Amino acid sequence: MTTALIPGSFDPPTKGHLDVIARCISLYDRVVVGVVLNPSKNPMFTSEERIEMMRVSCADWPHVEFVAFDGLLVDCARQVGAEVIVKGLRAMTDFDYELQLAQMNRHLSGIMTMFVATAPSLGYLSSSLVKEVALLGGDVDDLVPPAVAAALKERIADE
Ligand code: PNS
Repeated sequence: MTTALIPGSFDPPTKGHLDVIARCISLYDRVVVGVVLNPSKNPMFTSEERIEMMRVSCADWPHVEFVAFDGLLVDCARQVGAEVIVKGLRAMTDFDYELQLAQMNRHLSGIMTMFVATAPSLGYLSSSLVKEVALLGGDVDDLVPPAVAAALKERIADE
């Protein structure tokens, strides 16, 4: 049985994230989504909110598991018994950095990273861009799951 860990900040989750998860479900026996508790960038949503948005957005896939983690990704992978870390790649600009992370994680623990090419229609999508467009009054409803669209509207209205 192969367990895949899909890590991220998910601040907020986008349809790009769901696309990667959907493909992992058909490839791996067990899929665990790892939500980093303290992302390097100042998050718009708390870790609880990000995990809840992921749970609701993945409700059609009851077997997907969720874990919150702090510290090293490889320690989280060890704890959940993952043999593989999976990352989505949107463009070559992602590749340089992601390759560096993959090689460091392999150095630290021997774990392998697999890259999933994002669907071409979602290649321009990122959580940062979604937040920026939403904060400036743009429509992001097509780019994020419905629960995330609602949470963004609520958060922006509160600001
Ligand atoms: O969605 P993001 O922000 O691109 O996710 C980045 C994440 C959480 C995968 C990355 O920051 C990470 O792996 N954090 C854990 C800390 C760690 O292990 N650092 C060493 C990486 S080689």
